[in-house]
Amino acid sequence: MSNYKLDTICVQGGYKPENGEARTLPIYQSTTYKYDSADHLGDLFDLKADGHMYSRISNPTLACVEAKIAEMEGGVGAMLVSSGQAANLTAVLNITSAGQNIISLASIYGGTVNLFAVTLKKMGIEVRFATPDMTDEEIEAMMDENTRLLFGETVANPALVVFDIERYAKLAHKHDMPLVVDNTFATPVLCRPFEYGCDIVTHSTTKYMDGHATVVGGCIVDSGKFDWSVGGRYPELTTPDESYHGVVYTESFGPAAYVTKARVQMLRDMGNTMSPMAAFLLNLGLETLHLRVKRHCENAQRIAEWLSQNDKVAWVNYSGLPDNPYHALAQKYMPGGSCGVISFGLVGGRSAAELNTGLANLIQSGLNRLFGAGQSILGILVCHLVELAGALFRLGHDLAGLFLGRIEHLAVGNLGAGLQLCLTHHALHISFRILHELLAGSQQLLRTLDFHGDLCAQFIQQIQHLIALQNALLCTKRQTPGILNHFI
Ligand SMILES: Cc1ncc(COP(=O)(O)O)c(C=O)c1O
Repeated sequence: MSNYKLDTICVQGGYKPENGEARTLPIYQSTTYKYDSADHLGDLFDLKADGHMYSRISNPTLACVEAKIAEMEGGVGAMLVSSGQAANLTAVLNITSAGQNIISLASIYGGTVNLFAVTLKKMGIEVRFATPDMTDEEIEAMMDENTRLLFGETVANPALVVFDIERYAKLAHKHDMPLVVDNTFATPVLCRPFEYGCDIVTHSTTKYMDGHATVVGGCIVDSGKFDWSVGGRYPELTTPDESYHGVVYTESFGPAAYVTKARVQMLRDMGNTMSPMAAFLLNLGLETLHLRVKRHCENAQRIAEWLSQNDKVAWVNYSGLPDNPYHALAQKYMPGGSCGVISFGLVGGRSAAELNTGLANLIQSGLNRLFGAGQSILGILVCHLVELAGALFRLGHDLAGLFLGRIEHLAVGNLGAGLQLCLTHHALHISFRILHELLAGSQQLLRTLDFHGDLCAQFIQQIQHLIALQNALLCTKRQTPGILNHFI
């Protein structure tokens, strides 16, 4: 572990080329590795030697990125996986079996709620959901001898609840269990949960860490600080693993017991591996993370302040605003800003916010690039719950959300331009069938938010241009069947 600042780790961490070696992290696009003797390979299989034997379990490109993320978070080891979902699933399954349970804050990403409430349930694991307003005693009353861990998100997606890491770490440790924190929104640039007592961190690297909307990925980081032998509660780590030649993870791997088990047992058996190419792209994203995240936060802060002064806006949810209920917690855990996502509601509620499916579809395609660095504001959406069910259903009320993904400095006056850019970049992913609806909806949206003038006109023109494009493509389609399949 180095003493470098995080900015330096983002650029220099992980890959350390020797004299004459490639300056940029190489992509080891190989499933297997060559060894001179069967004994050497045997030692690798027996976990007696360091090295790579099969890329389902480990790979040199991934290893460098894992080392970088571990260093960024201040952990003893990290493991990349194929997605954020895989990270949370693996983090839980590594120490939880059928018949046991975990406690999770309810205000977390909707996909994780599904994973916990539906899929884990089918696997015989019960997830007990706590709310942020519950007292310690109320949460303790949900625990029993089969409770394995406590889970929360540093900043919840999309409810933007800030997780009181120190409080929940104390609560978990009082009952000899680890605290697992999904640090996707904050990233280690804004918050390093291990410094507040968290034991395991997970990430959807798909978002800010990648930052270019190129690869889906996830990561688990082990703080190395949790004592797995305490009270004999975690025999899977402290007694022989018969599926791995009787290895006892805490004895053989000390502080890295959890992450080693996750790799050699979970990754080996479930195979939710990240590819070397994906790890390479993720590494490129990590190199600029420290710059991008700061800018995301500055932009979000400005927009949140602007929205909160707009009389068409009923409420703005962003912890950077002094009157936000999570402002104090955000200041404590993320003094440099909490994330680039804001949510807000319009005066008039659902009916004022209601838009056609066209705009919602536009935003849904924008959501794919939600945290992309190169785009302008990725989407401004005013929609109701059903239209964005997958992404936003946890909010439970009418929602207007603004997603910021701009790397350059954002002035509030650019908002309309942002919308226009959003259209330009994502238009081809929109079903052309809804363009006319989109036009009407956008006009309504811009009226509601009081956008006037050139930008507004350009925005509308852009949609009209797309309608013309649609017509042109429809003509082409007659000659080239299938050309529109990608778009419709
Ligand atoms: C906080 C959080 N955790 C996990 C996930 C799931 O990540 P992925 O989409 O990479 O599977 C997401 C996705 O949005 C998320 O926001």
